[in-house]
Amino acid sequence: CRVRHYKFNVVVKNTTRLCQTKPIVTVNGGFPGPTVYAREGDNVLVKVVNHVKYNLSIHWHGIRQVRTGWADGPAYITQCPIQTGQTYTYNFTITGQRGTLLWHAHILWLRATVHGAIVILPKRGVPYPFPKPHKEVVVILAEWWNSDVEAVINTAMKSGAAPNVSDAHTINGHPGPLSNCSSQGGGGFKLEVESGKTYLLRIINAALNEELFFGVAGHPLTVVEVDATYNKPFTTTTVLIAPGQTTNVLLKADKSGGRYIAAASPFMDAPIAVDNATATALLHYTDTPSSSSVSTTFVSLPPLNATPVASKFMDSLRSLKKPPSSSLPRHSRVDHSLFITVGLGIFPCPTCTANNGSRVLAAMNNISFVMPTFNLLQAHYFNISGVFTDDFPAKPPTPFNYTQNPTPQNTSIVLSNGTRLYRLPFNSSVQVVLQDTGFISPENHPVHLHGFNFFVVGRGIGNFDPKKDPAKFNLVDPVERNTVGLPSGGWTAFRFIADNPGVWFMHCHLEIHTTWGLKMAFVVDNGKGPNQSLLPPPPDLPKC
Ligand code: C2O
Repeated sequence: CRVRHYKFNVVVKNTTRLCQTKPIVTVNGGFPGPTVYAREGDNVLVKVVNHVKYNLSIHWHGIRQVRTGWADGPAYITQCPIQTGQTYTYNFTITGQRGTLLWHAHILWLRATVHGAIVILPKRGVPYPFPKPHKEVVVILAEWWNSDVEAVINTAMKSGAAPNVSDAHTINGHPGPLSNCSSQGGGGFKLEVESGKTYLLRIINAALNEELFFGVAGHPLTVVEVDATYNKPFTTTTVLIAPGQTTNVLLKADKSGGRYIAAASPFMDAPIAVDNATATALLHYTDTPSSSSVSTTFVSLPPLNATPVASKFMDSLRSLKKPPSSSLPRHSRVDHSLFITVGLGIFPCPTCTANNGSRVLAAMNNISFVMPTFNLLQAHYFNISGVFTDDFPAKPPTPFNYTQNPTPQNTSIVLSNGTRLYRLPFNSSVQVVLQDTGFISPENHPVHLHGFNFFVVGRGIGNFDPKKDPAKFNLVDPVERNTVGLPSGGWTAFRFIADNPGVWFMHCHLEIHTTWGLKMAFVVDNGKGPNQSLLPPPPDLPKC
């Protein structure tokens, strides 16, 4: 095992896309930012220096951070932000994980441009459970905003209206060869392949607000890993990937030559408008002349709201190992069972101009989470009272027909707000059923849990039935991941063991929903044994 040192200078950089140049916040000037490479077992040290006007923090999405919650990164959850001119070194060890993950800013909407890949190779000498690819390529899907994203969300929060949407999707930072203005700001990402060789694409969705479909013309993709866990390989023409998720696929360059379009387009329509743009990239066989005499093959992706395609993709995901690991709680041992409604709601806002003195917010179990002004992990570690309460309810206050759309007016869903956490004893086994609600509108929510991988034991459309549905749970080979797409108007169930002491955020990874309050956190107590307690905070931990 090695120590890997990285330096992240967070700087403003003028960047040109869609025919216009604007300053964006970047790491080391790149959009996307640098890839962090490591091997399983390595100690990673990333020194982050903040040279911009915003306070910020960086999250290592999917890294388990065993006992090192101080390095997890969500602002005001595990640390106070790094202030302008200040430095913080994230120090963590990669335990029991290999594959693709992502890092991103975890404050405001800075993630729009402050993100990049984490590539964790297996321990030296340990092969992949699939044939060794000829080359590995990181493919980051994201968005481009013509306007300043912080201004977009600030304006929306003041008025109570839904924010604007992005202006383009991007593949490795570019809207691509088929976008307007492709000649200004680069023609797009080009993947050079040799005929007969196999490539591993490490696909990441770093977009703020859009779940995406991805595909490559003429080249089916074999999915081998999601969220840095191996799955039973299956082949598909379309990959579904939500913000925060990662998907490794094998692509066999089995054509004799030519040019093929790769594309990403949105999956879900939402009550807020959707950025309908398709991002493109080029798969180019090396021996093919780049002259116009060679035709280009186009890819057709599923249309907006193609729920059957999405469901088929999610149902195809199974853990490679069976049972995936001893950390999958069986029926006989669920200590904490939570039923959490996930959805939008209306909240009074006398100063809001958009909705007659009210605004849209989002909530879990009707509680719209209020960000504290001091970080929760420190409050927990030093027993500082008044920062949070640990009374997050295990079920919603009033049961109703969750997925009836529209929800009848007489079902008044009164949102409350608060910084309420759910406390878990060390090593307890936990089951969470997430239930989408039709209040305002049913919607798909990619829910991310920090600090753990969980097993997705079930999903379905409609209301979760506590009598019938658990009998159908997959406890044999459920997929293991850190971010799960909750189906629109449906439910999903996952399980995990609370074997990582600390404070762990759980939230919708659609940034607008997080901003609206679709978030909560677990506080996991220390165990009694050796190596079962949260390590002390590092000396350079930022101060509030
Ligand atoms: Cu990738 Cu809390 O986020």
